[in-house]
Amino acid sequence: MESGKQLTGTLALAVFTAALGSLQYGYSLGVINAPQKVIERHYGRSLGVWSDKAAVLSENSTKEDELLEAGAHPDVVMYWSLSVAIFSIGGMFSSFLVGFVGDLRGRIKGMLMVNVLAVAAGLLMGLCKMWKPHIMVISGRAVMGLYCGLTSGLVPMYIGEIAPKAYRGALGTLHQLAIVIGILISQVIGLDFLLGNDDMWPLLLGLSGAPAVLQSLLLPLCPESPRYLYIKLGKEQEARKSLRRLKGEYVPTSDLEEMRREKEEAEKEAKVSILSLIRSTVYRQQLFVALMMHLSQQFSGINAIFYYSTAIFSRAGVSQPVYATIGVGVVNTIFTLVSVALVDKAGRRTLTLVGLGGMCCCAVAMTVGLRLQNEYAWMSYVSMTAIFLFVCFFEIGPGPIPWFIVAELFSQGPRPAAIALAGCCNWTSNFIVGMTFQYIEVFLGSYVFILFAGLLLVFTMFTYLRVPETKGKTFEEISAVFQKGRKKPLNSKDDTELEQLKTVTEA
Ligand code: GLC
Repeated sequence: MESGKQLTGTLALAVFTAALGSLQYGYSLGVINAPQKVIERHYGRSLGVWSDKAAVLSENSTKEDELLEAGAHPDVVMYWSLSVAIFSIGGMFSSFLVGFVGDLRGRIKGMLMVNVLAVAAGLLMGLCKMWKPHIMVISGRAVMGLYCGLTSGLVPMYIGEIAPKAYRGALGTLHQLAIVIGILISQVIGLDFLLGNDDMWPLLLGLSGAPAVLQSLLLPLCPESPRYLYIKLGKEQEARKSLRRLKGEYVPTSDLEEMRREKEEAEKEAKVSILSLIRSTVYRQQLFVALMMHLSQQFSGINAIFYYSTAIFSRAGVSQPVYATIGVGVVNTIFTLVSVALVDKAGRRTLTLVGLGGMCCCAVAMTVGLRLQNEYAWMSYVSMTAIFLFVCFFEIGPGPIPWFIVAELFSQGPRPAAIALAGCCNWTSNFIVGMTFQYIEVFLGSYVFILFAGLLLVFTMFTYLRVPETKGKTFEEISAVFQKGRKKPLNSKDDTELEQLKTVTEA
């Protein structure tokens, strides 16, 4: 009773409720994959570049041919690519605001507030047939992106703050787990006999706002983060109450003591702004590593698979590509669980290296399979297997690790700025891949994945040469690793710079 280490019902409810935000993020990432052709045809109709009459005239064409024909029009390709990628533009902007929203009225009210965006986005997409579908969907996806940029920061922040130390790693990974489950759900209900058909696809897209409704009902039942209450607001009594609700009846002295030390530390360290972090030479190496890890997560090409896997599988000669896409979602979920089990044993650096190296080999195999499938039928199995393994390697390291390693690389002062920059970098590169993949695919044909193989090779080498192991190390130890790697020791110029940073933020 006095340990406070048990998993209480309130803690489970709070983590579940928060993770509904990550689920929604995953759902929005995956939902536009399977029904691509159906939606493209609607775009074609509303843009006047495709008509039912034309389809009837070409009697010999199959439904699939008609859909492909509509989707091939340059305007449709452009509007479709925008529908996919505008989501990331929204996320790019809003990820900067995570700290502001979380601190404004607390984590709970922050999550509650941003749900307005999710519901509005769901309505725009769900009701898209009432006006121009392409405009409605693009607007809905942009607003949903704004929501997801915020939720992808607020959820890990809240879970990290309420989790007991003993479960912080496992509970923290639930963010990525909920994302991959969201992707899987969207893939399953996106099947054409469920919601991925001519009549139901607006509902399929509109449902991306549904978890927000459930989350809004549950959030008032969840306790506010004790760390926010105590460290940010100085409300010790309320923090005590919140701790008891989360951990059961126990004496929270040691937790409060730990928070008091954290508060003192936070007050001592300068709160570094985003701009001063970019300019600072003191944190340059950490920042470089953090940003490169996020770049490697996105430029590995993972979302080319998630956004376009149905199309990629068709090209690889798979007759039921949507089922293969669902298979990817299942494998993705299983390997995220594997990562939960491995990450504290094998270490971040090793798993990232194995993951990126494995993905690089898979990208080469995918290219060989796609290139030679016309000569040898069995080559389509090579590309299929390579796609599945690509996803497995992603989830054991390059998927989950960048999200939490930034917090490990930075101390209290520069941490919020570093998380905002890393989040923005993640969303920007996600946008670039989503926007350009289709065009690059047209240009490079079956060689498209060789591009990612090249990038993956560079990221693997970077990780080998520059990324230190952070498993089980204190911040001082991690910092010492970076100081050793610096060309000159922390000299008086750097000290002056730190002082300047402090003066600027204090002013
Ligand atoms: C990570 C990435 C996200 C990707 C997902 C796939 O969360 O940030 O972009 O779609 O993993 O599982």
